[in-house]
Amino acid sequence: MIKIIRVRDYDDMSRKAANIIAAQVVLNPESKLGLATGSSPVGTYKNLIAANEAGDVDFSHVVTYNLDEYRGLPRTNDQSYYYFMNENLFDHVNIDKANTHVPNGENPDADDECATYEAAVRALGGMDLQLLGLGRNGHIGFNEPADDFAATTHCVDLTESTIEANKRFFASADDVPRQAYTMGIGTIMCAKKILVVVSGADKAEALKAAVYGPVTPQLPASILQFHQDVTIVADEAALSLCPEA
Ligand code: GLP
Repeated sequence: MIKIIRVRDYDDMSRKAANIIAAQVVLNPESKLGLATGSSPVGTYKNLIAANEAGDVDFSHVVTYNLDEYRGLPRTNDQSYYYFMNENLFDHVNIDKANTHVPNGENPDADDECATYEAAVRALGGMDLQLLGLGRNGHIGFNEPADDFAATTHCVDLTESTIEANKRFFASADDVPRQAYTMGIGTIMCAKKILVVVSGADKAEALKAAVYGPVTPQLPASILQFHQDVTIVADEAALSLCPEA
């Protein structure tokens, strides 16, 4: 079931999403959190840092698994998701770094990396709460539109549209890695709760299709319609094509 929380703008979205995550951690201090990168969750992380500083949320027993990582990008590269997570969250809260996990994009053996990561997530029984952003083409993690829903963590070829969307973070489109390791749709769907943050008019089509369109691997986020506990926090611009929501 999908619950939509309509908010004013990015800041409003970020506060509300952070409050939901904070509540999760307060209720279960040993929560397993699935985390996301991209511009959508940055504000959420800022609010979580503030909540941690204020003493409202304690990350010391929290375990995290990130969705995805570019293949072949060194962890020291400021565009790696490993770097991103330290920069935007882990370095600023009282989390034990040993409890944080991002697929290792530096492992050239894709089968080994993906199998190891998948086994670790499954051993925990999936995430207690999985945070997601939404790609402009409806991707979640790096599960791009495809003929099938990928069950497990795997190596993907990024689509031109994703390379185009993500080139803003690199010197040029040529510098964007062509492959990534990502949790599969099956891995994501194992989460007990899923929280999606969506902001901006450029997400409106994908959001409408994800919530109201047919469930199809051509729009990977549409699978969320089959999950029992999904909350989407989306702003007016992102919901501009969903007036009823
Ligand atoms: C990236 C990430 C996704 C993210 C999406 C949207 O490619 N792999 O996890 O949700 O694209 O990014 P943004 O939030 O910057 O729009």
